[in-house]
Amino acid sequence: MNPSSERRTPIRPGVLVARAVFPDVVARLVEHVDVETNDNDEIWPQPELIRRLQGKAGVFVTGGEKIDAALLAACPGLRAVCSMAVGYNNIDVPACTAAGVLVSNAPDVLTETTADFGFALMMATARRISESERFLRSGQWRHWGVDMFAGSDVHGATLGVLGMGRIGQAIARRGVLGFGMKAIYHNRSRLPEAVEHGLGARHVGKEELLREADHVVIVVPYSAASHHLVGAAELALMKPTATLTNIARGGIVDDAALARALQERRIAAAGLDVFEGEPVVHPDLLSLPNVVLTPHIASSSLPTRRAMANLAVDNLLAALRIGQQAGRPPTALNPEVLG
Ligand code: DGY
Repeated sequence: MNPSSERRTPIRPGVLVARAVFPDVVARLVEHVDVETNDNDEIWPQPELIRRLQGKAGVFVTGGEKIDAALLAACPGLRAVCSMAVGYNNIDVPACTAAGVLVSNAPDVLTETTADFGFALMMATARRISESERFLRSGQWRHWGVDMFAGSDVHGATLGVLGMGRIGQAIARRGVLGFGMKAIYHNRSRLPEAVEHGLGARHVGKEELLREADHVVIVVPYSAASHHLVGAAELALMKPTATLTNIARGGIVDDAALARALQERRIAAAGLDVFEGEPVVHPDLLSLPNVVLTPHIASSSLPTRRAMANLAVDNLLAALRIGQQAGRPPTALNPEVLG
């Protein structure tokens, strides 16, 4: 062997960080790999994303970048797609597996923060916080009124959780233990009896949940099966005094049908953190008073967003077989590709 080639520094893998993230988190990657960042936080169109991925072994994504079979075919060097989001409906995991590309998401680290937000949004919706603040800020407040912005109670009410994964359970716990709520839930698979018992939550059918709940909170992952899980027919089952909160994904609720139900006061109010076609929001939702709107921020506390980003980096380094975690991505969705 030629002695000079022996000393040659091994080629560092290339990684694309598709959105602007915390500099110190990126610095963890820079120590080991060649990094291309997106400091302006531009949303790259698909051809641009593909162009930037040429020659890259890994990509750090969020819940927005589309990783599909066409992209994988155009980026044959790609070995790892690591997302800082828990939801991964933007990534075609079977196509990645078929191409031998490791995929990871970021569960657990955001559970409690997201549950805090879901509960806060449900409370803001029930107690008409945004509507009353807009009234005050616009100078309309002249005097105290006996039923001024009278909403509905949260304590003691029936909480209906649609989707009882980690975040759904954390919301139910808040409701039952903190607010004396009665919790019912609907999930594809029923929780073990001991878990139900620990939470104080009862499994019911979807229709029963919609009929019974005073406050429905949606926490199901998005998939073809959950597309428009709540549309006109489901909204028609709800109480006219009920609220609907969606912190899961746009597309699970039929936003046009929801806007109609809110306009016609078929339900009292809605709290929405996610939207069909976001960041574009259905114009009727924007003009309705009885809806609280937030820009997909349920997991956005600083410590949690940092933890999510760091977890994506842990996964990337492990998948690219770098450092102490080499080969053991902590939250891989298809660990079988590593053999
Ligand atoms: C998630 O982690 O899935 C949040 O919705 C952010 O995309």
